[in-house]
Amino acid sequence: MGASSTKVTRQHRFLIWGGDGWIAGHLKTLLEKQGKDVHTTTVRMEDREAVLGELIRIQPTHVLNAAGCTGRPNVDWCEDHKEATIRSNVIGTLNLADCCFLRRIHCTVFATGCIYQYDEAHPLGGPGFLESDPANFAGSFYSVTKAHVEEIIKHYNNCLILRLRMPVSDDLHPRSFVTKITKYEHVVDIPNSHTILTDLLPAAVLLAEHGEVGVYNFTNPGAISHNEVLTLFRDVVRPSLTWKNFSVEEQAKVIKAGRSNCKLDTTKLVVKLKEYGYGIPEIHEAYRRCFERMKGAGIK
Ligand SMILES: NC(=O)c1ccc[n+]([C@@H]2O[C@H](COP(=O)([O-])OP(=O)(O)OC[C@H]3O[C@@H](n4cnc5c(N)ncnc54)[C@H](OP(=O)(O)O)[C@@H]3O)[C@@H](O)[C@H]2O)c1
Repeated sequence: MGASSTKVTRQHRFLIWGGDGWIAGHLKTLLEKQGKDVHTTTVRMEDREAVLGELIRIQPTHVLNAAGCTGRPNVDWCEDHKEATIRSNVIGTLNLADCCFLRRIHCTVFATGCIYQYDEAHPLGGPGFLESDPANFAGSFYSVTKAHVEEIIKHYNNCLILRLRMPVSDDLHPRSFVTKITKYEHVVDIPNSHTILTDLLPAAVLLAEHGEVGVYNFTNPGAISHNEVLTLFRDVVRPSLTWKNFSVEEQAKVIKAGRSNCKLDTTKLVVKLKEYGYGIPEIHEAYRRCFERMKGAGIK
């Protein structure tokens, strides 16, 4: 009898880093709903021995890195805690990617698109920033760490880098962009790219499962202004909502770090997802659906 070979395909096993975080929680729920083999960890990313130990113990095929120093109550914190921010967002993120590389594990990094600001070549209403455009926003130390680490990490052939912006959940979680702007005393009114998690997180799983790598702008197509979001929220969810605007100059007086405002070009993402039969709604439509889900769930 001749020798026969059996090809063994390993079942996917997902390990979510930053297990106690907001986006990590959404990823876990989604993967569980999909019946996937999912684990979480809160091991510090910069602790190389502990990271390698966790990878050996759990044996994931895919790491979803949703860990990162985002600052509390907001990114202003990073201005006064630069070493701690570097330890997580630079040393930790690189260490985890490198450990995954050495163990041949696919690593999805939940990164940020808040590394750009509108400029002459990308004015309001003009073309969005491409994945290949160099970062041009250094107004906050948080963004600086994220932009620098992306420049390096994109050279790892096991890493998928997803640039989220102003993520929104279907509830009023304090970290969701909508919750934040409904609570501020004043809001600016600038069109931006946003990430509706219900639309985008299944896409992250799809891309990871298919072993995609490289950088993707990870938002719904298009840009929407703060007033457009609030108007839609008032019309669909909370008729009593009122708000006051202020200018970027006035905003600058009440925050320590600058805030990025930009539109990202989502062509690369949309084309790739089409290969897998997955579409993402344009941001205005996406918000309408999101608020209708909220209303349907009794959120006021
Ligand atoms: N929410 C946003 O607006 C937004 C926008 C774009 C991109 N992102 C990125 O998406 C990722 C997840 O964001 P999120 O909103 O879910 O943030 P989050 O709720 O603050 O969760 C981040 C988690 O990462 C953990 N963490 C921080 N440093 C770590 C380290 N060195 N090692 C291991 N765990 C560490 C935190 O734990 P501790 O609290 O114990 O430190 C926390 O549980 C972050 O990288 C963030 O930069 C977020």
